[in-house]
Amino acid sequence: MKALVYNKDFDGKIEFCEREEPEIIDSKDAIVKVKLSTICTSDLHIIKGFVPRAKNDIVLGHEFVGEVVAVGRDVKKISTGDRVSVNCETFCGECYFCKKGFINNCINGGWELGCRIDGCQAEYVRVPYADNGLTKLPDGVSYESALFVGDILSSGYFGAEMCEIKEGDTIAVIGAGPVGLCAMMCAKYMGAGKIIAIDVDKTRLKIARKERLADYVFNPLECDVEKEVKNLTENRGADGVIECAGTKETFEMCWKIARPNAIAGIVAMYEEPLSLPLPEMYGKNLTFKTGGVDAIHCKKLVKLIEEKKISTDFLITERFKLDEIINAYKFFESKPAGCLKVAIEP
Ligand SMILES: NC(=O)c1ccc[n+]([C@@H]2O[C@H](COP(=O)([O-])OP(=O)(O)OC[C@H]3O[C@@H](n4cnc5c(N)ncnc54)[C@H](O)[C@@H]3O)[C@@H](O)[C@H]2O)c1
Ligand SMILES: [Zn+2]
Ligand SMILES: [Zn+2]
Repeated sequence: MKALVYNKDFDGKIEFCEREEPEIIDSKDAIVKVKLSTICTSDLHIIKGFVPRAKNDIVLGHEFVGEVVAVGRDVKKISTGDRVSVNCETFCGECYFCKKGFINNCINGGWELGCRIDGCQAEYVRVPYADNGLTKLPDGVSYESALFVGDILSSGYFGAEMCEIKEGDTIAVIGAGPVGLCAMMCAKYMGAGKIIAIDVDKTRLKIARKERLADYVFNPLECDVEKEVKNLTENRGADGVIECAGTKETFEMCWKIARPNAIAGIVAMYEEPLSLPLPEMYGKNLTFKTGGVDAIHCKKLVKLIEEKKISTDFLITERFKLDEIINAYKFFESKPAGCLKVAIEP
């Protein structure tokens, strides 16, 4: 089959090449025929060498939907022919961390697909612990509508969940990229009263407004964001901040725009070590939470999509065929105005 492989020794780090079709190795595995996949900003982080856990010479990609074409004998909940969304995380469901819902740290898994084992930018994928990692799609939910459930929608939900949102809270989301837009959507669903979107990209801020995900939008290149957030909150600051941008500046913005005793939920992945100026922050009594997503709400998210309570359809702004995936990477990496996510079709 055709697959997009990451290898440090390749000139451009990625090549579209021929690989063996995957087979069932463990009795809990399933093989999924990829119907639609996408590129995640985290794939770019792997290519740039910023993901220490990534293995060399693996098929990239961890965000996809497809049809189950084979299951191991211990797969009970999923059958051949099922249309499924796939969790970007592999988890056993039985270890200490899985039992607490911390599946990102499953001792038998975590972020494996497209990082430590072959991923989805190919024709077929082997998914370990298929009963846990696959969510059946109801008839009313298309592949397009479910494409982001297993990764960025879960990540946005995770960011909002980290902030422990109370009804009416003012939530600031830094970064109005695909993950930030999902975080806004989930924060609203969880009862946030006001959502503030912050980005240096005007087009993305416009999208946040157009999709009614943000009530206020601020561009740090055009205004003093800290001042604006304080103006909206009787000089307190935001009740929760979700950081989905991933730069030194935005990390710093987190604690500056948060009110005392707020929670900052860090979803972004950084490319350098960062530090918190604790003396300056003293007395603000903030809680910082960070994390690789614990994507444990996929079923719930599919249901919310089915009930039309949330929709990520607008995130697909371009489509490429699998054969053109190298171009799709170049395109996605160059971040042309208005591009949010590229869908890769077989
Ligand atoms: N924690 C997880 O499990 C998880 C899962 C998926 C993605 N991620 C990470 O989440 C982050 C966001 O993903 P994405 O796909 O939305 O990325 P993205 O690059 O499309 O979005 C980031 C946004 O931040 C904005 N930005 C950059 N500098 C800024 C600044 N100084 N001020 C304000 N805004 C600024 C950019 O304009 C962009 O719109 C990435 O770091 C990604 O790797 C984490
Ligand atoms: Zn991802
Ligand atoms: Zn586990």
